[in-house]
Amino acid sequence: MRLATIKELLSSKNLLQEITVKGWVRTFRSNRFIALNDGSTLNTIQCVVDFENFDEDVLKKVNTGAALKITGTLVESQGRGQSVEIQVTALEVLGVADPEEYPIQPKKHSLEFLREKAHLRIRTNTFAAIMRVRSTLAFAIHNYFRENGFNYFHAPIITGSDAEGAGEMFRVTTLDEKKPPLTEDGAVNYKEDFFGKETNLTVSGQLEAEAYAMALGKVYTFGPTFRAENSNTSRHLAEFWMVEPEMAFFDLDANMDLAEDFIKNVISYTLTHCQEDLEFLENRLLDEEKSKPQAQRSAMPLIEKLKFVVDNNFKRVSYTEAIEILKNCKPNKKKQFQYPIEEWGTDLQSEHERYLVEKHFNCPVILFDYPAKIKAFYMRLNEDGKTVRAMDILFPGIGEIVGGSQREERLDVLKEKIKELDIDEKELWWYLDLRKFGTAEHSGFGLGFERLVLFATGMGNIRDVIPFPRTPQNAEF
Ligand code: 4AD
Ligand code: MG
Repeated sequence: MRLATIKELLSSKNLLQEITVKGWVRTFRSNRFIALNDGSTLNTIQCVVDFENFDEDVLKKVNTGAALKITGTLVESQGRGQSVEIQVTALEVLGVADPEEYPIQPKKHSLEFLREKAHLRIRTNTFAAIMRVRSTLAFAIHNYFRENGFNYFHAPIITGSDAEGAGEMFRVTTLDEKKPPLTEDGAVNYKEDFFGKETNLTVSGQLEAEAYAMALGKVYTFGPTFRAENSNTSRHLAEFWMVEPEMAFFDLDANMDLAEDFIKNVISYTLTHCQEDLEFLENRLLDEEKSKPQAQRSAMPLIEKLKFVVDNNFKRVSYTEAIEILKNCKPNKKKQFQYPIEEWGTDLQSEHERYLVEKHFNCPVILFDYPAKIKAFYMRLNEDGKTVRAMDILFPGIGEIVGGSQREERLDVLKEKIKELDIDEKELWWYLDLRKFGTAEHSGFGLGFERLVLFATGMGNIRDVIPFPRTPQNAEF
């Protein structure tokens, strides 16, 4: 007999069939009603046992969390809340879960408590819903690029270059930390390390993606990236997944168009395919926010918010315009920003980004043409000589969700920049080759996948939208 999923059974019209199902007990009421879940859906199937016909010792093991094999007949449900249920004829306990020890009991657990039990938290409705949405978003991303003529490119995880030039890298080495080989002047001699040079975990696959775009036209990477930045916030992870498309012959406008269309498309796909889970997450959020003052509650329920993003244009604003708005806004004048905006050229902090998105424009915003000084070396210099063709997409409740740019394709301008920033040109020899041989206008961006999942699920902390979060002082599991 084929093992049916609970999702299939719940929508089955084929009553009175004999079926077998396996799953985990959510609850067992009145020694009669087992709510069984197998992860295929948020919902449980009700399994009805006539306890008179079952061994009491077996039924004693039917506790929350236990794994069961159930055989029975699918019948129309007598009770409310479900259309079908299983009249159980045979029940086998595959694996017990001692109620004295099993931490995921049917009651409300705090997200903090569940974070410490990341291996078991996926057994709650909240985390199962989040992770199904996460999986659907990942699929939607691949689907979008495939339908739009992109090739999926696998960037290396271990690399010798610092793509962002921010120096926030995890070193990869096999040298003996207690007795590393030294050079004549006493520095660690990386020539003797595994790769014969200093290597690290990648912070971004962009530079390698550029090489591929300059041959395949349109490519994207979707993989883990690593940043050793010591920011213990609800928006930062040390290991996160990034989606990075890179396109030959795209200027910044085409790049922004693509980014906007891409985000709308994957959210729309998720609205269609995760309705049940999104409804659950929407109610979870409404419930959580009940105890908060009105001002701290979300402006829209989750699904309405997602539809709003799909249906409305993102507002495009230059950095220079944004600075004017910020300089003259109330919180700045009243000195309510932790970092007051005084002059053109300062980097925007998340408090500024959130003011623009949540208070001023009330919609997703694309900021573009940033000062060259606050952006990475590879961005294309504008005619004004002081701004670069960069763009960041800012989302309500999230802040920056995308960072991208048109790349500097002119060899001489790029070399000048590299010199200015004191980067070793030799390290970037292959990257410069791309400008020597068949150089062309090209652009791309990086989307922080967990920030997208945060937005789509309405969760408040990035640690709750990745299975096993890695953050400063934490790499359990
Ligand atoms: O803005 P970032 O640093 O851009 C790049 O890495 C470019 N090389 C991308 C490109 O053009 N191909 O990072 C891109 C996005 C950010 O907008 C943010 O959403 C996410 O990655 N991100 C993080 N997400 C979680 N934890 C962190 N520590 C993150 N750092 C960046
Ligand atoms: Mg950025």
